[in-house]
Amino acid sequence: MITDHHSHVLPGVDDGVRTMEESLVILDRLAREGVETLWLTPHIMEDVPNETEALRTRFAELQAAYSGPIRLYLAAEYMMDSLFVERLETRDLLPIGTQGDHLLVETSCFTPPMDLDGLLQRIRSAGYFPVLAHPERYFYMDRKDYRRLVATGLQLQLNLGSLGGAYGREVRNKARWLLRHGFYTIAGSDLHRERMVDTILSYRHPRRILPLMEHTI
Ligand SMILES: [Fe+2]
Repeated sequence: MITDHHSHVLPGVDDGVRTMEESLVILDRLAREGVETLWLTPHIMEDVPNETEALRTRFAELQAAYSGPIRLYLAAEYMMDSLFVERLETRDLLPIGTQGDHLLVETSCFTPPMDLDGLLQRIRSAGYFPVLAHPERYFYMDRKDYRRLVATGLQLQLNLGSLGGAYGREVRNKARWLLRHGFYTIAGSDLHRERMVDTILSYRHPRRILPLMEHTI
């Protein structure tokens, strides 16, 4: 089962895909590439304060419009800001994973949140396993940070485009290092646009990537 755990293919809710038509085109292309399960993970952050119910409604519209073979699931990509803390406290959440007990979280690429460890602990105390989206993209993190975070049981999600150089050489090198050390748990495309499909799928290294894409949480 090839699973893409990270995408902005739910149309018109964040900086990702804008129209239902584009979503359907992307889903057809992903199906042809062998993707069997796709998680829709729209941004939720102070700057993009999507409401849980509105996302569920939009998701139902996409499901109604799509008749292809990919299994679609709705979750979210949470920026670990004060809106996230609010949502966590009220359990107003869209978790990821078949058991509904993981949360896909991100930070700014450039600056760490005030208390990253404390936030991760709050997520665990609320009964969820945090999964850090695209750790290779955080310029403020180094190898020591990754080792420490993985040792605490934090799961990491690889952006496929990172390996193809979509975010530059430093990000690619970090992704290679994390992959080599077996630090990633799951993978995702982080697709925002149809043209990104080429970039992501042009990176082919099945021996190393396939096990990650086949792994589900
Ligand atoms: Fe994303």
